[in-house]
Amino acid sequence: MNSETTLITGASSGIGLHLAHEFAKNGHPLVLVAPVESELRAVADEITSKFGVTVLVIAKDLELPNSAAEIFDRLQGENVAVEILVNNAGHGFRGKSWQIPIEDDLSVIRLNIEAVLRLTKLFIEPMLRRGRGRILNTASVAGFEPGPLLAVYHASKAFVLSWSEALAVELEGTGLTVTALCPGPTDTDFFPKAGMMETRAFQSASVSAPQDVAKAGYEGLMKKELFIVPGGMNKALVAARRLLSEGAQARLNQKFYEEVPAGEATRERGEFENTVKE
Ligand SMILES: NC(=O)c1ccc[n+]([C@@H]2O[C@H](COP(=O)([O-])OP(=O)(O)OC[C@H]3O[C@@H](n4cnc5c(N)ncnc54)[C@H](OP(=O)(O)O)[C@@H]3O)[C@@H](O)[C@H]2O)c1
Repeated sequence: MNSETTLITGASSGIGLHLAHEFAKNGHPLVLVAPVESELRAVADEITSKFGVTVLVIAKDLELPNSAAEIFDRLQGENVAVEILVNNAGHGFRGKSWQIPIEDDLSVIRLNIEAVLRLTKLFIEPMLRRGRGRILNTASVAGFEPGPLLAVYHASKAFVLSWSEALAVELEGTGLTVTALCPGPTDTDFFPKAGMMETRAFQSASVSAPQDVAKAGYEGLMKKELFIVPGGMNKALVAARRLLSEGAQARLNQKFYEEVPAGEATRERGEFENTVKE
């Protein structure tokens, strides 16, 4: 059992929800962050009754510039030392770049990049003073390649991946580690929210269960890995695609984000998540 207190953003659903279960299963006290308090409370109640760990919930919209500091100040005020920071909250919007409203693009940048920077810069200071700490940033396989029809999302995850790897090297010798979790398509609310349920990425690709992604993320973090690509198929695709030109990668991804012909969209949200027994 591990008693390092862990803060997880985006813990009300999907990968973040299952990361919360995975950390709790391994004994970690938790601080869970997401926008809706009632959803976080429901998650906290289930985790407390199942695993018996302490769970504190903080409802915040991480797109607001003061949210990171308000979370940090509250935890400092309550003497809660965050030893593991999991920057997981994120989202994306599908469409041609010139058709997506600028506010949607900026929303992706605020949540996927700005909030990650703000939280990390606050929580890294006490970790450095203690001489230990772990940071897990949810990037994506999207971070390895340009992604037409999901262009700003891919660029945001390229930022998270590149920045995480650079930070990890800067931190060598400090006792702190940084790990980038790079899932492939995963059965979460990401797809309906991004308007991507009918795409090849959800309908024909190898889709992971968020439980498996969370387990791989936890294990990779504990092993101090620089990045983790969960699942054999995703590992093979990332490795193979690195041999292609950027243009060829982009064209393949554009196909991936096109919709399947009408009538062929048979997979439903929850199909993979609900069949896994924890
Ligand atoms: N699903 C995939 O295929 C996939 C693949 C690679 C990487 N990822 C990454 O995995 C991470 C988790 O996404 P997911 O797939 O698990 O999707 P999800 O089920 O939609 O979970 C996203 C979480 O982030 C929270 N969130 C959204 N906006 C927020 C905000 N402004 N402030 C605070 N929290 C906010 C959501 O809360 P609400 O529901 O209340 O908005 C939810 O708890 C993201 O970074 C995503 O980019 C996903």
